Amino acid sequence: MSVALELRDVGLRYSTRRGEIEALAGVDLCVGEGEFVALLGPSGCGKSTILKLAAGLLAATTGQVQVASQEVAGPSQHTGVVFQKPNLLPWKSVLNNVLLPARTLGLPVVPARQRALQLLALVGLSDFAHDYSF
Ligand SMILES: Nc1ncnc2c1ncn2[C@@H]1O[C@H](COP(=O)(O)OP(=O)(O)OP(=O)(O)O)[C@@H](O)[C@H]1O
Ligand SMILES: [Mg+2]
Repeated sequence: MSVALELRDVGLRYSTRRGEIEALAGVDLCVGEGEFVALLGPSGCGKSTILKLAAGLLAATTGQVQVASQEVAGPSQHTGVVFQKPNLLPWKSVLNNVLLPARTLGLPVVPARQRALQLLALVGLSDFAHDYSF
């Protein structure tokens, strides 16, 4: 089985106004392609931090993070993230929130809109496509 995600001796320190917070130290993790892995642990143990490293939203302070044997250097179109808290843009309609990734990637508008409407229908939100989330 090939390796999809690998963390080697990873450390991450957040810099805050009150100094540094060591969120991770010496983390090793290896996830194979097609494996389904859940990270369990108490609040604050660093689960979300690991996901942000894997997604390229944070850079490790020490150690190595690889996806598909490539060093993670930043966010990638090939890595999706479902955030812990909803991150909807309140000034955009439900449909335009769903369309945001397609717009960011510059995908053709008409098929993207059709696909977004299909996805809204799939989750029973067609009637709310033009509403706002606040
Ligand atoms: N942006 C940040 N700035 C400073 N410290 C942070 C930041 N994000 C997380 N931390 C700290 O890093 C540590 C790990 O946080 P993280 O959010 O990764 O934990 P978690 O396991 O996902 O927790 P939860 O189960 O509550 O979601 C905690 O001590 C947290 O307070
Ligand atoms: Mg979390």
